[in-house]
Amino acid sequence: MACSTEQRAEPDRAYEIDGVAFLGRTFDEYSRLFGLEPSQLSGARVLDCPGGASGFTAGAVARGADAYAVDPVYGADTETVAARGRRDLRRAVAALDGVEDLYVWETYDGTDDLASHRWSALGRFLADYDDNPGRYLPAALPNLPFPDDSFDLVCCSHLLCLYAGEFDHGFHVAAIRELCRVARGEVRVFPLVDFSTHRYEGLDDLLLELERAGHDPEIRSVDFEFQRGADECLVVDVARKG
Ligand SMILES: C[S@@+](CC[C@H](N)C(=O)[O-])C[C@H]1O[C@@H](n2cnc3c(N)ncnc32)[C@H](O)[C@@H]1O
Repeated sequence: MACSTEQRAEPDRAYEIDGVAFLGRTFDEYSRLFGLEPSQLSGARVLDCPGGASGFTAGAVARGADAYAVDPVYGADTETVAARGRRDLRRAVAALDGVEDLYVWETYDGTDDLASHRWSALGRFLADYDDNPGRYLPAALPNLPFPDDSFDLVCCSHLLCLYAGEFDHGFHVAAIRELCRVARGEVRVFPLVDFSTHRYEGLDDLLLELERAGHDPEIRSVDFEFQRGADECLVVDVARKG
């Protein structure tokens, strides 16, 4: 459970955006930041929560998974969701102006390249949202519309820990419990830092909560770092449910 403490940014500076942005990442980005192997997806029942405007669900289905995504923005018609995605993507890229040094520019060759990955994810998502609406369910943590033990793999990207300014610790505890409730295999959470690149301050308590519930949490290094220090993923083995 090593903590990467090198290259932390100044404590009083952070990327700032109003509310929780409706954004998306590509299947390849998800695979890297969660350290996923293709063999984990084939034949697996998978949940992306929150799915946002991400291409992961479509990509996972193309690789043999029975995949679903949940987000409070889902449920509206495709054009309404597309307009929200386009607006938030432009806002999110513009918000990088002046805080570029909080990021490691290796995966992306500057903000234009980053934006092109986000547009690509949005396009893939919108096509699938239109074609396969039954895979995209409107719901919000900490209440998911699934029975216990529904998924082999539950992925939670860029909500918990990152948006610590929007969601208090009680929400984090309730959300991770809910993600574990609907999982029968693994829950993965990335990143483990907030927008100022500091490790989420309630992380140790979350790990204790998980252990007390009989789960087996592990912080694993991944081959992905965009926010400085965000190169770790929480992997919770929920197979040992009590
Ligand atoms: C920054 S996006 C991340 C999307 C995607 N997981 C990714 O990494 O590209 C955050 C998403 O969380 C969704 N969201 C906001 N509040 C939520 C809640 N209480 N439960 C689940 N999702 C929520 C937003 O609508 C938004 O789509």
